[in-house]
Amino acid sequence: MIYRSWLRAEGFTAEVFDGRPVIGIANSWSELTPCNAHLRGVADAVKRGVWQAGGFPLEFPTMSLGESLMRPTAMLFRNLMAMEVEELLRANPLDAVVLLSGCDKTTPAMLMAAASVDLPTIMVTGGPMLNGRFRGTQVGSGTHVWRFEQEHAAGRMTQEDLLAAETGMARSCGHCMTMGTASTMACMAEALGMQLPESATWPAADSRRLRTAQQAGQRIVDLAQSDLRPSRVMTRQAFENAIVVNAAIGGSTNAVIHLLAIAGRLGVALALDDFDVLARRVPTLVNLMPSGKYLMEDFCYAGGLPAVMRELSGLLHTDHIGVTGRALAEVIATAECWNREVIRPVADPLQPPGSGTAVLRGNLCPDGAVIKQSAASQQLLRHRGQALVFDSIEDYHRAAPDPHLDVAESTILVVRGAGPKGYPGMPEVGNFVLPTKLLERGVTDMVRISDARMSGTGFGTVVLHVAPEAAVGGPLALVQTGDWINLDVPARTLTLDVGDDELARRRVAWSPPASPFSRGYARLYVEHVQQASQGADLDFLKGASGAAVPRDNH
Ligand code: FES
Repeated sequence: MIYRSWLRAEGFTAEVFDGRPVIGIANSWSELTPCNAHLRGVADAVKRGVWQAGGFPLEFPTMSLGESLMRPTAMLFRNLMAMEVEELLRANPLDAVVLLSGCDKTTPAMLMAAASVDLPTIMVTGGPMLNGRFRGTQVGSGTHVWRFEQEHAAGRMTQEDLLAAETGMARSCGHCMTMGTASTMACMAEALGMQLPESATWPAADSRRLRTAQQAGQRIVDLAQSDLRPSRVMTRQAFENAIVVNAAIGGSTNAVIHLLAIAGRLGVALALDDFDVLARRVPTLVNLMPSGKYLMEDFCYAGGLPAVMRELSGLLHTDHIGVTGRALAEVIATAECWNREVIRPVADPLQPPGSGTAVLRGNLCPDGAVIKQSAASQQLLRHRGQALVFDSIEDYHRAAPDPHLDVAESTILVVRGAGPKGYPGMPEVGNFVLPTKLLERGVTDMVRISDARMSGTGFGTVVLHVAPEAAVGGPLALVQTGDWINLDVPARTLTLDVGDDELARRRVAWSPPASPFSRGYARLYVEHVQQASQGADLDFLKGASGAAVPRDNH
């Protein structure tokens, strides 16, 4: 009676309590997350499908993470959202759940939660914005912010132009429409088998976004009955498929961290080096910004992810079964590509095999670092230069406009203190804007190294996720201005030309920075966050607890 009576207060009739599956709709809608602000409409479409299939839908709000607004970085809160969604799923009497996400961190946070609870789950991402338009050209969210800000800093774009561009860049609801982190993670959810085919790419404003949501509502009722759980969908095979797809779509480097974190929740053995090994065989096929020319609407109309996966079928585990309940081979058998400029064939790729995200090793990054080759300058992938070191991104921002800054085009810019513990939260600052005096000379790229992340919409020859980070005493903490650094991406190495004896002397003189956080979530995060090479999850959140409530007093 206690369960029924209070739900009756919402006006439900007696039939909904006839034993039909209760389907939670976990909604990360928020006006503070513009990319997810339309998700209430998407939830209504999911509900239609659930009712249609004989389930009982109950929508509930979750924490939401707005990438563009949150300080110091939305990534600081990914694990908090994952923890909150996990506990909501476990605490409430749900038989299955549909996850509604969109903006960058909301998708991995929800997948991490679903992995730990292991209730039957389908994800519906909110879809990308319509393509950006500005003065007759296509402009991509994020990617053109960095370009326009660089142009503005160099004096080639006025403030009025910037203001005019910003509305043209955000023409509809939805998440960033470049192949940034949100689009990448939507594709990862589909490649893992956690969302329905084509669901990653329908634009948020397209009626087919609601259709796919309704279909997810219908399908989740079947999943509740067949008990197809995330642990049976997100297998090692599924992660290998996702890594191959990420390389082919020119996906975000953030996918590396998020996939490692999701795998960690499931106990799937996935390591940083898997990304390099698996991606070496994969050409970049999808011609989208920031690696290429087009945007998500174009990708959708060209056939979306099923067309890419069909093209890649020789490299994928096509016997994998996702939330459709069908083998991938069957799902993609009839997928067509309608635009070969946007989705290139394996025989004529946008970039050759092995040009996706590379994993580097060396005495500067003993636990690894990554670089997105497809967004880098080819002539800088092998580079030797002298370091110019900054202890924080704020220090760099103060110095960058200085016309007397001692920096040359060949300099390697090093920014540290921006890792998971150091900032904290590992902000997306790795593709920082070049020093003003070089921009004014027309320099468009330089080697940059940091323990930070980079927005999936960013570009440049930037080495990211250096591990261990400087704040825990990684070798990055010991680099000094003037040291020589060798970057050799084809050889997958990043080395500091400083002898072991000298490094040992510097280490003795080094002391860890004091954390300014004495309480609250930030303290919990700093004390427990793992390094980027392990997925930057909190150490005590690894693994699964399942859906059972430890003590059920009803
Ligand atoms: Fe939300 Fe880019 S800011 S997806």
